[in-house]
Amino acid sequence: KKVAIGIDIGGTNTAIGIVDEVGTVISRGNIPTDRHADIQLYIDDLASEIERVIASVDAELDIQGIGLGAPNGNYYKGTIEFAPNLRWKGVVHLTDLLAEKFPYPIIKLTNDANAAALGESIYGCAKGMRNYIMITLGTGLGSGIVINGDLVYGHDGFAGELGHVRVVDNGRECGCGRLGCLETYCSATGLVRTAYELLGTSNKPSALREVVNQEKLTSKLVYKYAIEGDELAIECFRFTAEMLGKALADFATFSSPEAFILFGGLANAGDLLLKPTKEYMEANMLEIFKNKIRVMPSELPGADAAVLGASSLVWNELNK
Ligand code: BGC
Ligand code: NA
Ligand code: ZN
Repeated sequence: KKVAIGIDIGGTNTAIGIVDEVGTVISRGNIPTDRHADIQLYIDDLASEIERVIASVDAELDIQGIGLGAPNGNYYKGTIEFAPNLRWKGVVHLTDLLAEKFPYPIIKLTNDANAAALGESIYGCAKGMRNYIMITLGTGLGSGIVINGDLVYGHDGFAGELGHVRVVDNGRECGCGRLGCLETYCSATGLVRTAYELLGTSNKPSALREVVNQEKLTSKLVYKYAIEGDELAIECFRFTAEMLGKALADFATFSSPEAFILFGGLANAGDLLLKPTKEYMEANMLEIFKNKIRVMPSELPGADAAVLGASSLVWNELNK
């Protein structure tokens, strides 16, 4: 059976899938991304998990290669040079490191958000769309920009680092070393930072106040209390939506997309985030774009958009 291995490297979790030619994930694996600061130890873990996943499949596999998506993943170079939310320091030659472990002729890397954009275009809600921007809201904020049917890589391969567009002067400290980047507000970690800020500045009663006294605040908890009607938790989402909606209104001017597709942890919050994001986007949009651009959640479940998109790098290479 002809298959490709798709890997989505996130800030906290790495998801692995063995994918067949029609996009069915026939076996899966997982490892934490952040256990080791030493990249070689991570690669060792990753390689043994890949081998375990391969061995778990009953059928005889004809593995064509490995496709990966990772924060700051560079399609041209196969490297990660600077990923604020990963622990590894210096330039990581990811495809070379995997080539030392596996004999496959195709080992390709792209940015994690690019992978999600590819996944949705081949198997999900972006089928047939030629202009859209994928926004991933996880540990950081990533983006994959599709223009005239093609992903934009840019001169150096780093196109689409929209998480590091600065939206507030002297704003929150970002992992990239600058202040006020979009991802410090609009991401799972940004939402939690907002919650801590609001808890500090408002004296509204909130279930979140009890939580911080006992355990660590997470975006999932903020979500849980928001849907239960906690006003401060709802305000966290409204603020996130305001920052995101305004940014999307500006991003629309770059490339005239037909849709923004939201992926990752926060996108699963549904209308709690989507509805106000749309409203802020429309209210701040240049007239010519008003009421034309959809804001929609990723359609594929879990991290599948990124895993499938990563695996598609292998099929693309084969079809060249
Ligand atoms: C990185 C992007 C990445 C995003 C989501 C950002 O901090 O700069 O390359 O796509 O996080 O992981
Ligand atoms: Na990108
Ligand atoms: Zn930044």
